[in-house]
Amino acid sequence: MLTLIGLVFLFVAVLLGALLVSYLKELMLNDHRPPVAGSTLTMLIHFNKFFDYVALIAKKHRTFRFITPTHSEVYIADPINVEHVLKSNFQNYTKDGKYSEKDDVLPDGFKIKKGDGISYMAYPMGRMTYIWGEDAEEFRPERWLHDGVFQPESPFKFTAFQGGPRICLGKEFAYRQMKIMAAFLVFFFKFRLVDESKEATYRTMFTLHMDNGLHLYASPRSKA
Ligand code: HEM
Repeated sequence: MLTLIGLVFLFVAVLLGALLVSYLKELMLNDHRPPVAGSTLTMLIHFNKFFDYVALIAKKHRTFRFITPTHSEVYIADPINVEHVLKSNFQNYTKDGKYSEKDDVLPDGFKIKKGDGISYMAYPMGRMTYIWGEDAEEFRPERWLHDGVFQPESPFKFTAFQGGPRICLGKEFAYRQMKIMAAFLVFFFKFRLVDESKEATYRTMFTLHMDNGLHLYASPRSKA
């Protein structure tokens, strides 16, 4: 029994050692083209508020990379670079879980290495003054209206549904569902936050969830 535990322990130790060596080798390689924002470790340290952390970096570098034990993860907040990746053919940048299939140079000069992971950053992009102007972080939905009529923005700036050949096929359907739901709820109810002093924030996940939900009081609108 003790021999078995010893063997398992040895196996895990060798595995961790091999991972550590490959990680250190990757960190020491000098072909990580700048700007490098950190490593997997940096990402883990900031995991709790990861999207705010990358938003801070994106204010300084519109495109940057994190180094992982096996490759770089490139994060893009620049609409010109997002457009380049999304419009490129699927042999250059794969569709799901995007990876670069060959070396490339993005329109702003950022160099991509074959095998780099590629992500665009919808959350930071929604907050960048270089995309939306000085009031980027203000809640001002009328910015979407011109003379009272909704004007869509470029899908490479507002990237929730992606763009080009990769655009979400259910986009219009999703908008319709959201409009029906919102119109129905607002027509019948008034909403008030249970705790107005509490900051509404998120839980880091692939799709963002409200942290602990958003607690509201709903009261029926008067019929008068
Ligand atoms: C708010 C709701 C939604 C959001 C934010 C959203 C977002 C996206 C995104 C970002 C992609 C691209 C994925 C990729 O290429 O890596 C996508 C693809 C897709 N979405 Fe949506 N989607 C939504 C709702 C829907 C709905 C309701 C439907 C169907 C009725 C739908 C159908 C599709 C399909 C079929 C694709 C694949 C398109 C292709 O491979 O060419 N989506 N969606």
